Amino acid sequence: MKQENRVTIFDTTLRDGEQSPGASMNAAEKLRIAIQLELLGVDVIEAGFPAASEGDFKAVEMIAGKMKKCQVAALCRASEQDITKAWEAIKDAAFPRIHTFIATSDIHLEYKLRMSREEVLESAVKAVTYAASFTDNVEFSAEDGSRSDPAFLCKVFEAVIDAGATTVNLPDTVGYAVPEEFEKLVSYVMKNTPNMDKAVLSVHCHNDLGLATANTLAAIRAGARQAEVTINGIGERAGNTSLEEVVMSLGTRPNYFPESTGIDTTKIYPTSRLVSSITGIMVQPNRAIVGANAFAHEAGIHQDGVLKNPMTYEIMKPETVGVTKNALVLGKHSGRHALYTHIAEKGYNLSDDELSTVFEKFKHLADRKKSILDEDIDALINEGILRSAEVFCLKYLHIASGTTVHPYASVHLTINDRMVKGATEGNGPIDAVFNTISRLTDTKSELLRFTISALTEGTDAQGDVTVRLSEDGIVALGKGSDPDIITASALAYINGLNRLEYLKTNPVVKPETL
Ligand code: KIV
Ligand code: ZN
Repeated sequence: MKQENRVTIFDTTLRDGEQSPGASMNAAEKLRIAIQLELLGVDVIEAGFPAASEGDFKAVEMIAGKMKKCQVAALCRASEQDITKAWEAIKDAAFPRIHTFIATSDIHLEYKLRMSREEVLESAVKAVTYAASFTDNVEFSAEDGSRSDPAFLCKVFEAVIDAGATTVNLPDTVGYAVPEEFEKLVSYVMKNTPNMDKAVLSVHCHNDLGLATANTLAAIRAGARQAEVTINGIGERAGNTSLEEVVMSLGTRPNYFPESTGIDTTKIYPTSRLVSSITGIMVQPNRAIVGANAFAHEAGIHQDGVLKNPMTYEIMKPETVGVTKNALVLGKHSGRHALYTHIAEKGYNLSDDELSTVFEKFKHLADRKKSILDEDIDALINEGILRSAEVFCLKYLHIASGTTVHPYASVHLTINDRMVKGATEGNGPIDAVFNTISRLTDTKSELLRFTISALTEGTDAQGDVTVRLSEDGIVALGKGSDPDIITASALAYINGLNRLEYLKTNPVVKPETL
């Protein structure tokens, strides 16, 4: 059955993307990403899994209340309890969607669910019928669909569409499919599900073999009209299909793909950077479209060609995806108005108080760094806005270190607005800072990883630090940036501790079926 050529972009950065190890986000961070996703033009935001934890419920509810244009989906297992919770979280959304799922492959039925095919079919229909009693926007996913018996898959899809599902999703949950085979499976499902004209067929691919985007595009060619994706391809294990790859493949090869999306491609790069800076998951430099090298031409012959005509070696213009080459933005003498205009042009939507906070931080940075670039503004917004409601907050830092000095750090920080001060030694300045912070906060996290890079070019660039911390089995990432790399390290460490605090009080109980 032929459907329209418009592909619905269903973004699951906040749900499947958050399942990337250590990528847990707090509600304010999720909301910030959701606002950016709406600006980017996604059709559906999967905001979370409300039954997983109280924190997830609150974040989904908050996002549902704020989105004006896009649909907000909540994931739930095929149980009345989960579905009720999902609906409670999204009921006030302008366009709510319930997304319920159950596995359909024999291996999942036998070993995980211990259910027969008949029982799974019955549960799926019951779940969709119950979800449809709340809203007419119901999505059903056949988990491990790519490894399910195709005839059974069609039987389940037919039954859930009859029960009220308006989208049926075929996930390649374990990233096992290959494009040609997946295209055939999608064609089979399109042909052999008699009421397929009453629903949209969606696909959701994982990247275990590096084929998630190829499989998604193959499925679109076969008639799928919803692609489930994440920014930067983050997600469970090797991740999900990346939004930027699917959208730019469709946009760059219109003769091959007549399908289109509603994405404003110029917002792709800023969104990628925001997600990376909030989750702490770095974008690999050679990553397609959003990697630091995606538009960098190293070979002389390429550079020469690009200068003569960019299309000799560039299939996409960097500006099309929002990459502005090292844009010189602002300096010490730039005023409030210039900064606010720039922030608005970048697609941020900040309140007056937030703008004032960023302006203060901007002035402080401009005293120490000659030119403030795009990357610096993103970091200022993240430091200044997203961290304001945290438990631990750095107020003062002084270190002594050098070839003949035993490293030593003095730190003042607030714990829920109560000032604490202390000083400790370490085997290096960063060790001394971390020891002092851990003593003052009475935390015992283990530092699993520490990375540092320069945010922009030049010796006056801000240092950008990422730490990975673990405490009592909970893992969290922390990020910090500052022209002083020891301060950046302290900020990253404190950010990591704040995330651990959040996770301690909002444990993410991943249901065993996910
Ligand atoms: O990978 C998967 O199967 C999922 C479903 C819940 C859609 O994430
Ligand atoms: Zn998934």
